[in-house]
Amino acid sequence: MDYELNTTNKYHKEYLNTLGWELTICNSLYDDKGAIRKILIENESFGRLLYKHLNRFFPMDKIKKVLEIGGGYGYLMKDFLDTNSALIPTMIDISPYLIKKQQETLKNYKVTFIEDDFLLVDDTMLAGYDLVIMNENLGDFPTVVDLKREIFNIPKEAITDPLVKKIRNFFEKYSLALPERDIFNFNLGAIEALEKLCRNTIPYIYIGEHSCEAQPPLQLRPFLNILPVGNPERISLMGHDEYTIKFSYLEDMGKFFGYNVIRGVFGDFIPFRWDKKIEYILATKGRYGDEDEMIYHFVEDLYKYEFLIFLKSDKEAHNSKINGLKEY
Ligand SMILES: C[S@@+](CC[C@H](N)C(=O)[O-])C[C@H]1O[C@@H](n2cnc3c(N)ncnc32)[C@H](O)[C@@H]1O
Repeated sequence: MDYELNTTNKYHKEYLNTLGWELTICNSLYDDKGAIRKILIENESFGRLLYKHLNRFFPMDKIKKVLEIGGGYGYLMKDFLDTNSALIPTMIDISPYLIKKQQETLKNYKVTFIEDDFLLVDDTMLAGYDLVIMNENLGDFPTVVDLKREIFNIPKEAITDPLVKKIRNFFEKYSLALPERDIFNFNLGAIEALEKLCRNTIPYIYIGEHSCEAQPPLQLRPFLNILPVGNPERISLMGHDEYTIKFSYLEDMGKFFGYNVIRGVFGDFIPFRWDKKIEYILATKGRYGDEDEMIYHFVEDLYKYEFLIFLKSDKEAHNSKINGLKEY
């Protein structure tokens, strides 16, 4: 089989020494004097906005043990702890460099740090967590690239390649829609990570990442270059490639495990102010200034990044209806 397995483990373990090249939404909102903060309706950091958003769907003040996978510089968790000091946090990260950064950022808080690949840790480590956060990291997890749709024509017993067999099993088990393209990419690591969380019945799970299925709202379509291509797309970054995520597959898995699933875009909880200046920046695609360019890409990301919230209890899912967001 002539597919490729894209992994970023070596990069994260051996080479990564900054996240500067991949300015995440969380990091771009951290500086309260930064250009991006000025366009927000609520001048808040990412972690605070996310905390408030999650609290619309389940009671964040009842959460005790929280696990953040791939927490980057640790800013999101710092915001959570500043908002709710009763949280008992654990950070797991594959990167020795970023674990050190997280230890610096969170030095005034009681936090457990684990340096490991989340996909390799034993299920027993997940016992007792109320909430798991995965923000902007599933794209780094292994992706199988350039698979042929023909793999669905071969009887399963005749498949000799264990990876292809595994992928066929995922499609069957979670009733995933077959890819429309002859050649497709598959977010294997994202599926495995979510499966691990769901089979361990984590009550609340949040995932946010670049999506290959996102569409901007109608009024922003003339301004933003976002197409729901439906197939995980390669993003080439410093020293590694990552892939956008096919969110509908994760959504299907959540339902399979009996979760209520809320799906939306980052723009739902990071609203920005609409005025003449923003309209100009979007209309000119930010090409007339560095700050404009940054703002343009930020706004584009607000609609290219999707989130999923998985809820185990019916009661909290009911609250999501009250809030009028789309429930799946
Ligand atoms: C793009 S950064 C995002 C950081 C942060 N969540 C944010 O939003 O700014 C991806 C993070 O995932 C971590 N990561 C990537 N693969 C991982 C794995 N297999 N297990 C644990 N952490 C991983 C990286 O080291 C890094 O901290």
